[in-house]
Amino acid sequence: MNIRILGAAAGGGFPQWNCRCAVCRASWDDPRAVPPQTQSSLAVALDDSHWLLCNASPDLRQQIIDNPPLHPRRARRDSPIAGVVLTNGDVDHVAGLLNLRESQPYTVYATGRIQQVLADNPIFGVLNPDYVARREIALDTPFVPTLPDGREGNITVEMFAVPGKVALWLEEGDIEARLGAETEDTVGLEFTDRESGRRLLYVPGCAAVSESLRRRLADCDLLLFDGTLWQDHEMVDGKLGIKTGQRMGHMSMAGAHGSMAALSDIPIARRVYTHINNSNPVLLPDSEERRAVEAAGWTVAHDGMEIRL
Ligand code: MLT
Ligand code: MN
Ligand code: ZN
Repeated sequence: MNIRILGAAAGGGFPQWNCRCAVCRASWDDPRAVPPQTQSSLAVALDDSHWLLCNASPDLRQQIIDNPPLHPRRARRDSPIAGVVLTNGDVDHVAGLLNLRESQPYTVYATGRIQQVLADNPIFGVLNPDYVARREIALDTPFVPTLPDGREGNITVEMFAVPGKVALWLEEGDIEARLGAETEDTVGLEFTDRESGRRLLYVPGCAAVSESLRRRLADCDLLLFDGTLWQDHEMVDGKLGIKTGQRMGHMSMAGAHGSMAALSDIPIARRVYTHINNSNPVLLPDSEERRAVEAAGWTVAHDGMEIRL
């Protein structure tokens, strides 16, 4: 299985356009030492020339330019992008669909709930329905993404609910009461190589590690996990916002209840943090926090990172 990290940062990217927190400042001042990262997305190869995007970030156009395997190869209209699978309805994961609007055949895979969110918003009507198929995917039910000619790709995908919340821009009513619910609003993705059986788990947003998630992660070959925050209060403490990680549906890395601790006893061959918020000091290559995650066996993703399973 071939995987490319298209964007390692969380919503807003890194550095964020209006932010000069300690972490963003380091990147604004010295982008060579502290490389900018685009917003949350990755690509998984379906065969030797087609890719499935996992989420479509607002930076997708730049990500395509930066990743030659995603360039068109044949005159006149062509794209190696055979599909997009969505893990939630957040801006950083769906806005990039608007880049994929010229008539080109591909499939958008999402839960019924997220397909409804797209259907309810007329701006996504720019995806020409004569070319772009929208497939509703049931939870816990493996499916095989297809190539534009209808053949099956080499990868099986399964969506599963993880503790999370509704997209920020769709919040209404008593959100607190529904924080951490396992619904079709937030899913993780399990990819299985149909030949080798190797498994990738991609969970870019997760509020807690549930028993069912632990079981699913056990013995996987690669985990790409929610690396939004280092600590739950960092946005509040840094005067960057009023919300904790928990309120945003993200568990943090550090601490007794953090993801490093929660996942430490699960056998996972390779663990990588992605969807990293600009406030998170692990983005600084020489930080104490970066050393701590690496000492715990984690890697911090970066744009353009390639992984072969
Ligand atoms: C998140 O991951 O919490 C969202 O992307 C937040 C947002 O929409 O800005
Ligand atoms: Mn996000
Ligand atoms: Zn910042």
